[in-house]
Amino acid sequence: MAHLVAPSILSADFGHLARDVQMLHRSQADWFHIDVMDGVFVPNISFGLPIVEVVARESSKFKDVHLMTSLPERFIRAFRKAGADGLTVHVEVVTHLHRCIQEIKAEGMRAGVALNPATPVSAVEDILPDLDLVLIMTVNPGFGGQHFIPQSLDRIQRMRRLIDRINPTVLLQVDGGIKTGNALDVLRAGADVLVSGSGVFSSPDPAAEIALLKGLKANNLMA
Ligand code: DX5
Ligand code: ZN
Repeated sequence: MAHLVAPSILSADFGHLARDVQMLHRSQADWFHIDVMDGVFVPNISFGLPIVEVVARESSKFKDVHLMTSLPERFIRAFRKAGADGLTVHVEVVTHLHRCIQEIKAEGMRAGVALNPATPVSAVEDILPDLDLVLIMTVNPGFGGQHFIPQSLDRIQRMRRLIDRINPTVLLQVDGGIKTGNALDVLRAGADVLVSGSGVFSSPDPAAEIALLKGLKANNLMA
């Protein structure tokens, strides 16, 4: 499968959000990655439902919502109503993960589970048959513009093997510090979906940066 590119609007200009969303809509971006932070699970507050509504109003592309919040299960229906197509929750915070995943799917969304850098890859093994996506955090969640943690490549490879063994339909997404300089390594390690925030938006031509990420070829070089 050709990989997908999901620019994170966390690095967009919120004074001109509709403009930036329209730019992403016209670009080769496959998805919008939308980072919601509550200031409890992560040491930062980003934005909530109204921003998802703006993206949904401006673009029909897939809206991939990454919930870095401590009680994500309370807001499943609200995010669906706001326009989310996929919802990813963190394995570290959801006590009844199986129920939460079923509720996301019952609302008609793709269900994802995210893992922090220190969470064992095996933490999602038993829920993999129920998932549509696994997100490997390659920085500590909370901020854009951080450096990719090098040990993440080994984690991506191990998650790839787990997915291939248990449920090959699951998409493997990577998030944090992804740029054109390291994206090929990440793809070769087995990623399916590249999230990139500052890598895209710090470029003078974000659409060209997205085209570069989209054009990378990891063919036959999978680890
Ligand atoms: C970090 C977020 C990321 C972030 C990525 O907590 O989950 O999606 O926006 O930003 P960059 O690509 O700048 O690391
Ligand atoms: Zn994210």
